[in-house]
Amino acid sequence: MAVKEFGREWTKQDLFKSILFFFVHFLVLVLLVAAFVLGSRLRGIGEHLKNFGAGYLYALFCILLLVVIMYLYYFFEEREMLLSGRSITLIFTLLDVYFIVCWLISVYIDIYARPVALLALLTCVLIGRRSAIFMNIIGALLLFVIDTYSGGFSADSAFYSSLLISFTAGMFAIFFCGKSRTRFGIVGIGFAIVFPIDFIIFLLHISTFLERATGGLSAWREVIMKLGYGFFGGVMSTVIFLALLPLFEVAFNCLTVYRLRELTSPDARILRQLKVEAPGTYHHSMMVAQLAEASAAAIGESPDYARAAALYHDVGKLHYPEHFTENQGEYNLHDELTPELSADIIRSHARDGYTLIKNHHLPDFLADVALQHHGTMPIRYFYAKALKMTDAELNIEDFSYLGPKPQTKLAAILMIADASEAAVRAMNARTPEQAEKAIRGVIEERMDLEQFSECDITLADLTKIRQALVYALTGVNHHRIKYPSIKYKHTENGTKGENI
Ligand SMILES: [Fe+2]
Ligand SMILES: [Fe+2]
Repeated sequence: MAVKEFGREWTKQDLFKSILFFFVHFLVLVLLVAAFVLGSRLRGIGEHLKNFGAGYLYALFCILLLVVIMYLYYFFEEREMLLSGRSITLIFTLLDVYFIVCWLISVYIDIYARPVALLALLTCVLIGRRSAIFMNIIGALLLFVIDTYSGGFSADSAFYSSLLISFTAGMFAIFFCGKSRTRFGIVGIGFAIVFPIDFIIFLLHISTFLERATGGLSAWREVIMKLGYGFFGGVMSTVIFLALLPLFEVAFNCLTVYRLRELTSPDARILRQLKVEAPGTYHHSMMVAQLAEASAAAIGESPDYARAAALYHDVGKLHYPEHFTENQGEYNLHDELTPELSADIIRSHARDGYTLIKNHHLPDFLADVALQHHGTMPIRYFYAKALKMTDAELNIEDFSYLGPKPQTKLAAILMIADASEAAVRAMNARTPEQAEKAIRGVIEERMDLEQFSECDITLADLTKIRQALVYALTGVNHHRIKYPSIKYKHTENGTKGENI
């Protein structure tokens, strides 16, 4: 039975495809584990497997069990992750990379030197907090299973404490991760998680510590060495995270807070081009960004996404910048064109923006907002001009944007913020009452033309957006005190001024 849950129907085919993806990635994970664990024991492998085969078999079934639990978690909790093979590949690639890095460090340095919070940090930033909390547990259990049952190892107290260390450090990293918005802040997390790591190591070794405290320097040295490895593991978690994050961002086209900031920086390629080739549009986009940010915050949407969407919403105007009023001087190119042709040029900026953003491999939501921000609204100016020029019946669709209508709250916010900015500027509205009237008109016109019929924005949201826009616009258009003019005179006795 198809269940409509995440914007599209969950079908039997999705179920089959996601299970297949999980199974293939399970095989890859098992092969990786086998390659790393058995790689150094190739000589005399037959004898080794005869002695420790049961342990390996147990480890294999434990890994299978963990993968089944992962599938069930995503099926019941975050099913949208199962809809794309790319997301499933991302989850397993994170797990594979975590295993490889931890295994190599525990073999060549020490089990306590593992970058234990790496999986939690990467999952938190690339997928989300909920996933990170879950994957942190899976990662800790996976390493524990491999450590304990992959032949030759006996259950060592270090394995049990490393299970606790991985889990605790990962959880601390996830809690701090939401607070840290800079790369420098992330390194700070590395230092912060050293405390729980070293605390657990210290507790485990405290018996040894007390026993050997009188036994000379070597006992002290051993404990300090272990604490040092814990320090290394905590800090390396964030260093390796910072090194790997850009690779994951590019390989899986993931949108992180860091990438979003790079995309909205004035140095971003398309924005730089907009600033040079269409300065009016650039300025308009900056104004809309402020309004969209305030509107998004008012209804609980992400202000960061709204800001990015606003900065890119009109990039399609780069094709014919001089055809848009904000980039024109005295001369209006449309005076020489028929209203139909003018309308066609104007409306093409939505589609052109979509194509430009897609061609630059920027996030999909930017392209979608660029395409939808005018919905199917008529281009009033040229429709009115055409009506004046003829008595014949005109098809309003020839003078309308091609749509689609906004499909998300974000696109609806952009539609309102964009039109409100233009309306308030056109009216030269200064007082809150004037701005409110203009914005109310913008929203009502769009409701009349059913522009919000395909997204889940509510009347309560529209009211909050209106209030946020009035506040933002009248704050921006605040009155300046008029400075008095003074004429300066330079005399032998110094400079004097008098009112003009
Ligand atoms: Fe536009
Ligand atoms: Fe615009």
